[in-house]
Amino acid sequence: MPENDKKKGSGGPRGRYQRPKDLKKTVGTLLRYIGKNAWLLIVVVICLVLNTACAQAGIYLMRPLINDCIVPGDYPRLARTLALMALCFIGAAGLSFFYSRIMVHISQKTTHKIRQDLFAKMQDLPLSYFDTHTHGELMSRYTNDVDTISEILNNGVISLVSGALTFVATVAMMLYLSPVLFLVSIFSMGLMMVVVMTVGKRSRIYFAQQQRDLGAVNGYIEEMIEGQKVIKVFNHERAAKEGFAQRNEAFRVSATNAQSFAGSMMPAMNNISHINYAFTCCLGAILAISMGFDLGSLLLYLQYTRQVGQPVSQVSQQVNNLLAAVAGAERVFEVMETPPEVDEGKTTLVHVRKGPNGSLVEVPGRSEGWAWKKPDGQLVPLRGDVRFKDVVFSYVPEKTILHGISLYAEPGQKIAFVGSTGAGKTTITNLINRFYEIDSGLITYDGIDVRDISKKSLRQSLGIVLQDTNLFTGTIADNIRYGKLDATDREVEAAARLANADTFIRHLPKGYDTWITDNGGNLSQGERQLLAIARAAVADPPVLILDEATSSIDTRTERLIEKGMDELMKDRTVFVIAHRLSTVRNSAAIMVLEQGEIIERGDHDDLIAQGGKYYQLYTGQAELS
Ligand SMILES: Nc1ncnc2c1ncn2[C@@H]1O[C@H](COP(=O)(O)OP(=O)(O)OP(=O)(O)O)[C@@H](O)[C@H]1O
Ligand SMILES: [Mg+2]
Repeated sequence: MPENDKKKGSGGPRGRYQRPKDLKKTVGTLLRYIGKNAWLLIVVVICLVLNTACAQAGIYLMRPLINDCIVPGDYPRLARTLALMALCFIGAAGLSFFYSRIMVHISQKTTHKIRQDLFAKMQDLPLSYFDTHTHGELMSRYTNDVDTISEILNNGVISLVSGALTFVATVAMMLYLSPVLFLVSIFSMGLMMVVVMTVGKRSRIYFAQQQRDLGAVNGYIEEMIEGQKVIKVFNHERAAKEGFAQRNEAFRVSATNAQSFAGSMMPAMNNISHINYAFTCCLGAILAISMGFDLGSLLLYLQYTRQVGQPVSQVSQQVNNLLAAVAGAERVFEVMETPPEVDEGKTTLVHVRKGPNGSLVEVPGRSEGWAWKKPDGQLVPLRGDVRFKDVVFSYVPEKTILHGISLYAEPGQKIAFVGSTGAGKTTITNLINRFYEIDSGLITYDGIDVRDISKKSLRQSLGIVLQDTNLFTGTIADNIRYGKLDATDREVEAAARLANADTFIRHLPKGYDTWITDNGGNLSQGERQLLAIARAAVADPPVLILDEATSSIDTRTERLIEKGMDELMKDRTVFVIAHRLSTVRNSAAIMVLEQGEIIERGDHDDLIAQGGKYYQLYTGQAELS
């Protein structure tokens, strides 16, 4: 089983039967989330106490019912006692309705806030977090973990407290009614505790295995659904079925173990309870005959004997659920405690216009241009000059990807990167916009260290067309507008025209209002890329980064994209990662990358004259991927 599958486990209550690492701290955080609703918890506890009191009083009334009404044959008193009994049970029912409502309210409010915070946190996490955590893993924080928290708040807490209260009340009543009979009961209760604890412990182990196997089954299904196309292309249907059969069988075995073990708990408890009942009956009868133990007390005591086991198993079950919920909460809070993306940049992007003496003046709203505003108030015009100096970078500590990259792009220049797949082209562009932090060296933008620029401003000044196009559910216009949220319809259309996307959009039945779903599954690869280019264009950024998709597209679309890109590149600093030489040729400088190093640089003619790697690539002696 690949590590991934284990991590995914996005089906089933994964967190169940796991123990939290730091119970106190997590419960503290959870209570903070319950926050201002915490006083309602006190109301719930009070209601629970009253509810147990009412229910227990109702049960207790059986004693006077027999002793004072039935035995002497007193009808009026019987009616009164029955009415009182009914009142007790109605009161208990009313209270339980009331506290259940409150708990649902608390639970929904709390989980709503947790989900909200978790999502907000996700937006602040550095990209490296997503490299090391699968999306299934993150998803299960939202689904399984938040669900278990919600479940325990909805029912678990009530069940736990009321179980404990009922148990205490029952035991107290038994002791009060007959200390002698209680001695028999203590013995059987002790036996029940032992059963609950040993069976509980064993079944936890089996249940944990069952959950792991269920996670594997679900992870496999998820992967196979996503990969249906590939499975069919490679005729892997049979292998897929066999793989599934294996996991399904493992799940059957562990589920059978878990269920049969858990299932043995109830019969065992029942048997102990029956034996206890029989003994109590014998002893009780002797007490009644020879020592005047009244009938009402005897019947009531027998009733307690029958029901005392139930709160014991209820509490033990809920303690498990509670611990599982706390473990789930712990995982959620772990995500929330992950350090966010660092952003200590104080330099921001501001609108400016030229002042009377040629100096720049900051103005709010739309204006003639942009400038960087340094923390000391100094304004530096935005030009689009990007420099790398001895940049060393690694995604993971052990493996350096870029070894001392130095390069510069002057405003308006087009710099191209070429090189084999995995050479580090996309990585370089990931560093300009600070998706990742560099290990050493310096990257400057208009002479300012990019680490001093606020990430928001930095990314606002960069137009990026990523290698993998990502479209969101919404209309075509919405997707283009993603580049600049306040863009007008005219700006959106102008951007689409610039990117050469306008023609195909107009041919769609609903034009710009065409609905896109499933990452643009209803569009062709090339069309999706055109939209991505339009999205970058709408922001009109001074610096553009284009990471050409490697996927092959038909020549007509290729030409369209090329034209779109050419238009877009005019008068901007452009970093282009090109897989087609036609795009590269007219660049001011071409960097040939190999294993994280620039091995050749120069313009097209220089590089051809050098007769090195570029020459090989260009003349088709090496694959340009
Ligand atoms: N998120 C990541 N975590 C760890 N390693 C990564 C990550 N992204 C890329 N790498 C590694 O960094 C190296 C450079 O990858 P990069 O994506 O920059 O290549 P590329 O030149 O853009 O290739 P391609 O032409 O296929 O797009 C590769 O060896 C890759 O395995
Ligand atoms: Mg790449």
